[in-house]
This record gives sequence, C-alpha cells and structure tokens, in this order.
Amino acid sequence: MSTEMMKAIQVYEDGGPEVLIYEDVPRPVAGPGEVLVRVHAVGVNPADWRARAGFPDVPEQFRHAIPPISRPHIPGFDLSGTVETTGPDVTAFRKGDAVFGMIRFPGGGKAYAEYATAPVTDLALKPVSIDYIQAAAIPMAALTAWQFLYQDLEPGQTVLINGAAGGVGHIAVQLAKIKGAHVIAVASSRHETFLRELGIDEFIDYTATPTEQVVRNVDLVYDTVGGANGDRLLSVLKRGGRLVGINIGNYPAKRAAQLGITIGTGRPSLHPDAAQLAEIGRLIDAGRLCVGIDTVVPLSQARQAHIRGERGHLRGKIVLRVVEEGQATI
Ligand SMILES: NC(=O)c1ccc[n+]([C@@H]2O[C@H](COP(=O)([O-])OP(=O)(O)OC[C@H]3O[C@@H](n4cnc5c(N)ncnc54)[C@H](OP(=O)(O)O)[C@@H]3O)[C@@H](O)[C@H]2O)c1
Repeated sequence: MSTEMMKAIQVYEDGGPEVLIYEDVPRPVAGPGEVLVRVHAVGVNPADWRARAGFPDVPEQFRHAIPPISRPHIPGFDLSGTVETTGPDVTAFRKGDAVFGMIRFPGGGKAYAEYATAPVTDLALKPVSIDYIQAAAIPMAALTAWQFLYQDLEPGQTVLINGAAGGVGHIAVQLAKIKGAHVIAVASSRHETFLRELGIDEFIDYTATPTEQVVRNVDLVYDTVGGANGDRLLSVLKRGGRLVGINIGNYPAKRAAQLGITIGTGRPSLHPDAAQLAEIGRLIDAGRLCVGIDTVVPLSQARQAHIRGERGHLRGKIVLRVVEEGQATI
C-alpha cells in the first residue's frame, strides 16, 4: 500500500445495501505480474450483492464452495480503465493502455474503487468501438456465456436461454447466434423487442406461458434463473440433450439420467481468461456482439446500484461510473 489515498466502497459486515460505505482508503500498489488500473467504470454483478449479504440464498450443502471474504473488503470484479503503473516484471501492458477485465474472481476482486491492482492474466485491451461504461459491463457476463454455453454449442443446435434479457442471458443469446444456433429466449414480455433486436428466433413470455408447456426437443437449456422448480426445464430437452444452470437450481440427477440428459458442462467453474476476453473484444469491435446497459450510477451511489440489482428484472447490466467522460485521459 502507498500513502496516497483514493475513494472506494468498503464493506465491514454482511447486510443490505447500507453496508456499502464510500470512503478514503490507501491506493494499492501493483505487485509482480500486476498492473495498477485507474478505474473508469465498474460492472456490477449478482455475485457482488450476494457476497455483500453473506450469500444468504446459498443452501448449507453448497456453502463450502463460497470463497472466504475478509472484512473490511472492497467488492467488485468487473472493471474498465487505463493502466496507471505496471508491476516490476510486467511487459504485457504499458502505462496508458485502455483495458477491461474480471479481476481475481472468485476470491479477490476490489474493483469498486478509483484504482485497482489486477493480474495481467485477468485483463485484455478494451475494445476500441465501445466506451468504458460498456466495457466494464462485459467481462463476467460474457465469460460466463463463453465458458458455459459458447464453447459447447454446435452450429444448427437449438438452445433455450432462460433469463435471456439479464446480464448473462443477453450476451448468451448473441454468442449462440454467432455459433449458428436456433435461439429460444425466455423472459418477461417487456424484454421482447430488446431480445428480437439481438436476433432471437423465438420468444416466450414466462409470465404468460409456462415454458415446459410449449417447448420440446431442444439440444441445450442454458438456465440463468435456477431455483426450486428448475427441474421443469428437463422436459423441454431431447434425449442426449444438456442442461447448464449457472444459478443454484433443482436439477435432479436421477431423473435427468432417466431422460438421457446431461447436467452441467464438466468444465471448471468460472475463471478469468485473457485470451477469451480478447476474443470477446474482437467480436465487439467487429460489430457482432453488444452489451445492454440497464442502469449507470456514480461509484459513490453504489447502494443504489445494489438496490436496482436486487429488485431484479434487469435488461442488460448495471455499471458504476468512476470517471466522468470529460475527465477521461484516453
Ligand atoms: N456460475 C457462475 O459462474 C455465474 C456467473 C455469473 C452469474 N451467475 C449467476 O447467474 C444468475 C444470472 O446472472 P445475471 O447477471 O444474468 O442476472 P440478472 O442480470 O439479474 O438477470 C436475470 C434475468 O432473469 C430474468 N428472470 C427473473 N425471473 C425469471 C423467471 N422465472 N424466468 C425467466 N426469466 C426470469 C430477469 O428479467 P425478467 O424477469 O424481467 O425477464 C432478468 O433479466 C445470477 O444468479 C448470478 O449470480 C453465475
């Protein structure tokens, strides 16, 4: 730590949005293999508000998988910004480079701040065609869609994406279309136009029609919603199909096996990957992938961002603005 100070959000105890405290903290210093990023914007994820609250929604049998979080703690994994300084051995980036990334997921983070250190292996150059707000919105959502959907999807397959308008869902929709899949999107009716503009083939308003009553024979279900009735989605899959749930859900293994359905991808859990992020950035700059922004608030108003997130029904992502556009150095 240096003696220079910065503004950041700190959390001292589990609780509601009121435990997000905007205050002065020492500015971190880049260590070996790291850069110090002047943070321009921070992407807000469900992981942030669930960690803030102490993951109360995680059942006892899964709690061993929760990474330990020290308090006080600066939350946040997704950021965009410019490289301020480089660590002793770093050659991958130079001062002034515009970068974005998901940093130290799942156990570290510390993006809700004016400056954050980041392992260079967690960063890629920011796509030039989008601003810092959009860039900060992308990493976790896009890497989740990439690692648990895009990599296993074959051209011509039919995929059903549940929660299609949310942070992960709307990126998953686009990556599935890039792969050449037929995409059935499930969301509430207010998101239909948004999703049709992203190229979906079919839309189901789950508030009017239970998905399992109108869909059969899909190759892959990508469920971002989960929950106690996740098992109803088994019936929409064909024998030999796969259900990938990224939230905690009830997907009974025995019944899936009887139906000839595979649960999950067998891949390691979500992790930063600079090469995948760079590929995602190229798709963005090629005009093939975009990010939807639901809400932008200043870093100092992070509580409002969490209140919005916990209210649910998001269309795209929530972002914290750290640097006003006029102040941007690049
Ligand atoms: N496993 C991982 O590594 C990983 C990584 C990232 C995220 N996640 C988890 O994945 C989940 C989704 O993340 P996210 O960032 O996409 O969340 P999000 O932005 O909050 O999106 C959730 C979406 O689901 C829709 N929805 C809510 N109830 C629904 C229902 N019953 N049926 C269909 N759609 C429904 C919501 O809008 P409407 O209801 O208006 O349609 C919303 O658009 C979160 O729980 C997050 O923690 C896991």
